[in-house]
Amino acid sequence: MKGVILAGGTGTRLRPLTDIVNKHLLPVGKYPMIHYAIAKMAEAGVKELLLVLGKHSAGLYMEYIGNGRRWGLEVSYKIQEEAGGIAQALALAESFVRPDQKLLVLLGDNLFEDSLKEAVLWFERQPDGAHVFLKKVPDPHRYGVPVLQGDHISTIVEKPEQPPSQYAVTGIYLYDARVFDYIRMQNPSARGEMEITDVNNVYAGQGQLTWTLLNGWWTDAGTHRSLQEAAARLMGSEES
Ligand code: G1P
Repeated sequence: MKGVILAGGTGTRLRPLTDIVNKHLLPVGKYPMIHYAIAKMAEAGVKELLLVLGKHSAGLYMEYIGNGRRWGLEVSYKIQEEAGGIAQALALAESFVRPDQKLLVLLGDNLFEDSLKEAVLWFERQPDGAHVFLKKVPDPHRYGVPVLQGDHISTIVEKPEQPPSQYAVTGIYLYDARVFDYIRMQNPSARGEMEITDVNNVYAGQGQLTWTLLNGWWTDAGTHRSLQEAAARLMGSEES
């Protein structure tokens, strides 16, 4: 299982902090935000990790992460020159993954409690497909929202005015290597981005998008308030 963390983007909702440094380097409790996604990858059993970064602050990431040895990982980097969406960032990982390999993808601003180990082991034994992690939230209209059909998702609606369920599709994804072909099939959305939801919906349309519900807390630390909440939770779970 290869690991990919997407840590580009402009972080407009976290201005003015993100005028100085990329969002994923902002402090969350004791560590910069990116630390937590890296630790989740290592704990899930990933050995080779690719970090997709914007140009902003790229050198600072390398100073903090280096080659990844402190997590027992082999880390490499790719630069997304312009922010064009999650699926565009993921496309940069194609040469990092062999056609017979699978990948665990994390959005660097998604902070959460659950271990991904069991799901990763399970997914490795599946012949193909994709898998997402859902969380029940009070405000699903801010996220991708799934229409559930037993173990499978029939479709995901991105930021719907009328959410079809109470769940958010979190920024934690498992894919087979066909994901890169499916990204190539997409066009930019109304917000001008290559949407990961469109890619996930290719799998959903084939009945190949399975899901797990997260039990522990989860937050997308993209706003000042959610950043504060995440810091409070993570300080509570770390020794001071
Ligand atoms: C992205 C995805 C969305 C998902 C969210 C999780 O949204 O498009 O489906 O629910 O991440 O953090 P964005 O952060 O790009 O608005």
